[in-house]
Amino acid sequence: MDFKDLVIFITGASDGIGKQLAIDLAARGAIVVGCGRSRERLIETLKEARKATPKSLMIACDIGDAEQVHGMMKKVLADFGRIDILINNAGIGMRRPFVDTTVETTEAIMRTNYLGAVYCTHEVLPAMIARGSGHIVNISSGAGKIGTLNMAAYCASKFAIIGWSESLYHELKPLGVNVSVVCPGPVNTQFSREFQDSEPKSPPALFVSAAEVSRQVIRAIERNKFEVVVPRWLALMCTLKRFAPGLFRALALRRFRTYVKIPARDAISPEFPGN
Ligand SMILES: NC(=O)c1ccc[n+]([C@@H]2O[C@H](COP(=O)([O-])OP(=O)(O)OC[C@H]3O[C@@H](n4cnc5c(N)ncnc54)[C@H](OP(=O)(O)O)[C@@H]3O)[C@@H](O)[C@H]2O)c1
Repeated sequence: MDFKDLVIFITGASDGIGKQLAIDLAARGAIVVGCGRSRERLIETLKEARKATPKSLMIACDIGDAEQVHGMMKKVLADFGRIDILINNAGIGMRRPFVDTTVETTEAIMRTNYLGAVYCTHEVLPAMIARGSGHIVNISSGAGKIGTLNMAAYCASKFAIIGWSESLYHELKPLGVNVSVVCPGPVNTQFSREFQDSEPKSPPALFVSAAEVSRQVIRAIERNKFEVVVPRWLALMCTLKRFAPGLFRALALRRFRTYVKIPARDAISPEFPGN
């Protein structure tokens, strides 16, 4: 596929997978426009992308804020005339039992990981539909296919991305707009380094690089694949879950239950009827 002069918008381009995608797609001739909250890190991405595509641009924006997204996309559409491919990549995570996760944390995760993608897509979709072409790529996760303990808010946001993508696929395919969803397992980025001491830990051998995920995202666009699970071991686990859900859940429970902390009896309110 020829990416030359396609305008590709990437959220979360200041680090990790998004940064790698910006560099790789610029190297293929695309005009890369990206966003993130950290100006300093965006400048680093921009320096790299501009080596290949001088027209590339980075914009500081919090995608969890619909108004900021509106202003940013208005500027991009005015400056470049169109967005050919939107990659909804920005995301934040957490590792904590649900009982210890505040509602505010769940809201913040949903706002960035799910609503951020919704806000960005709302802004670019009408023009894609009017042109009868475009591609929306959503980065979900293995945690969007398999519920994992201590990640309830994150899993919910990534399951949401998959269900939303599936709906969009059916709505948009007949209108000429393609939809893909990519579900990576553990990736060697700052994101996973932040949780490296929290359970459940993934063995280092199971990690893939941001470069590999970027390669798979680009392949999904080129081959117009709806869903890509990467790496292969994770795809195999998803297949096992799909065809033997009971067995899969029992095996997962055996692995996960060792990490569950049983609250002390006196931590439960004695006033509650039944205690
Ligand atoms: N790493 C993994 O193990 C893994 C596995 C499966 C799926 N994923 C998913 O892959 C995506 C990229 O993750 P990564 O590993 O590359 O993480 P990362 O290295 O932490 O990068 C995350 C990117 O998202 C941006 N971001 C976060 N919140 C934002 C907000 N409110 N507005 C705008 N940008 C925001 C960050 O930029 P600023 O901080 O500058 O805002 C950064 O550029 C995420 O959706 C993540 O859930 C990651």
